[in-house]
Amino acid sequence: MQFRVFDNASQVAQAAALLVVSQVLRKPDSVLGLATGSSPVPTYRELIRLYKAGVADFSKVVTFNLDEYCHLPQEHPCSYHYFMRHELFDHINIPIENTHLPDGNATDLDAESVRYDAAIADAGGIDLQILGIGHNAHIGFNEPADTLVFGTHVSDLSPSTIQANRRFFDQEEDVPRQALTMGMGGIMRASCVLLIATGQDKAQAIYESIRGEMSPRVPASMLQAHPQAFFLLDRKAAKLL
Ligand code: F6R
Repeated sequence: MQFRVFDNASQVAQAAALLVVSQVLRKPDSVLGLATGSSPVPTYRELIRLYKAGVADFSKVVTFNLDEYCHLPQEHPCSYHYFMRHELFDHINIPIENTHLPDGNATDLDAESVRYDAAIADAGGIDLQILGIGHNAHIGFNEPADTLVFGTHVSDLSPSTIQANRRFFDQEEDVPRQALTMGMGGIMRASCVLLIATGQDKAQAIYESIRGEMSPRVPASMLQAHPQAFFLLDRKAAKLL
């Protein structure tokens, strides 16, 4: 694992977008792992800008998102299906059939988890995985625990994650309590990982993930063992390093 510190969130986004675009230039049919939440939004805006400038072509790219809430309709404005269309897919030339998110409304969520991991394997595995990080150092929705789960699975969201997600919903009762998430194995198997963290509220999680011991209680610390994991940080997120 390596980290780079930039002056501000806009520079982090530019650096992340350049790494994504260079991946796609090298391999036009790259398989990208994508995240939702606030952290990657400036990077997605930069990717849209580079696409519109004729620098990036996503026509052969395949994507797999990390996670989706359970039991929230895909058309709901807070669903990750909606988020991805709105923040990225509708603005670039990726064929929508090349984009994948787990189905949090599947009647059999265990079978959906197996199907999702098989689809990633069939696509040849993830070339480049984009991640954010939770205040409790979760990645995807792999929450701190005594043991981490390898494959895609249903995750019970921790109180701090439910609180962090509250800002997107009208009322606390509306915030989903569960999500279907790619497991730690899926993330660790990606050839390259880019973790984006900006803002002072992520400083403690970043410090524990980079300087602390590897522990399932700090899920992002597992990336210390990944040979191609890059943390792209602004000064505020890197403050405690
Ligand atoms: C989202 C995801 C989460 C977020 C994390 C940070 O797909 O997997 O791990 O990346 O909760 O969220 P933000 O960026 O909103 O602070």
